[in-house]
Amino acid sequence: MADHPQFIWLDGKLTRWSEGTIHITTVGTAGVSSVFEGILAYWNESAQRLFVFQLDAHLARLAQSIRLMRMQQPFSTAEIKEGLLSLLRANECAGDTYIRPLAFVESTLFGVTDQNAPRIVLNTTPWASKLKGGKVAHACVSSWARLSDNVMPPRVKAASNYLNSRLAAEEARRNGYDAAILLNQNGKVAEAPGACVMIVRNGKIITPTVTSGILESITRATLIQLCREVLEIQVIEREVDRTELYVASEAFLCGTGAEIMPLASVDRFTLGDGGIGPITTQLENLYHDLVRGIDARYGEWRTEV
Ligand SMILES: Cc1ncc(COP(=O)(O)O)c(C=O)c1O
Repeated sequence: MADHPQFIWLDGKLTRWSEGTIHITTVGTAGVSSVFEGILAYWNESAQRLFVFQLDAHLARLAQSIRLMRMQQPFSTAEIKEGLLSLLRANECAGDTYIRPLAFVESTLFGVTDQNAPRIVLNTTPWASKLKGGKVAHACVSSWARLSDNVMPPRVKAASNYLNSRLAAEEARRNGYDAAILLNQNGKVAEAPGACVMIVRNGKIITPTVTSGILESITRATLIQLCREVLEIQVIEREVDRTELYVASEAFLCGTGAEIMPLASVDRFTLGDGGIGPITTQLENLYHDLVRGIDARYGEWRTEV
């Protein structure tokens, strides 16, 4: 079995993997111009069915990123959705699968050109979910600040924003941590390199607002809705101080790829007893069952392939 899927979806067509090429001279500009999404499809083993989680929300955010970068929309959201589902079928995905839509301008010039019609590629990769895996992470507060709306808007899921993420993640790794948390330009908690941050204090969840220099995370919104509608846990969206990370009884990262990653410590301050706290456990169990369709509620969040 090849270590890549048989097909990608490129500019509207299912295309053999080996035919998905761009010219070497456009690699830098393609990267700088690109906006993307990270989407997960979860496999339900007992039903033998694959569900894409929050597909409509991810495609709406992709359209928003394309619009904010003033690119043209070469395909409608409905066309990309159909393409994505046909790609999952063509690649015979029968297991958890990560899907990466990417829109980029193929040009040899770094400056703005009239070539504002992006190319669009979708690809699939097998995914190993860590949900309910019992893992915890040790985080640090990064010495790098999160980029901001007037510099490089974190609201746009742009590949270039991940230079900021990489600096923080690499620093954390070299200093012996699993994860980084970045503060924003005002010195308040923003987010992790590829995930949002939630903390628990006095039985309530607290998380930075969407104007704190964060990506408008779909997982964050999902978990807030679940806390309010199912678990009856209060969620407060407000500025979060750095030291609140240290006195929290629980904290976790959340995102499509991060899923729900409990934090055992921040800057070596142990949170709770250093294990996975009760509120994090409740949320993780519920999220696990919903994404796979084991729990049938919120059917509108799952698109069957
Ligand atoms: C910087 C950043 N923040 C937050 C998230 C979480 O967003 P979502 O829940 O939409 O995947 C991501 C991506 O997963 C991200 O890259």
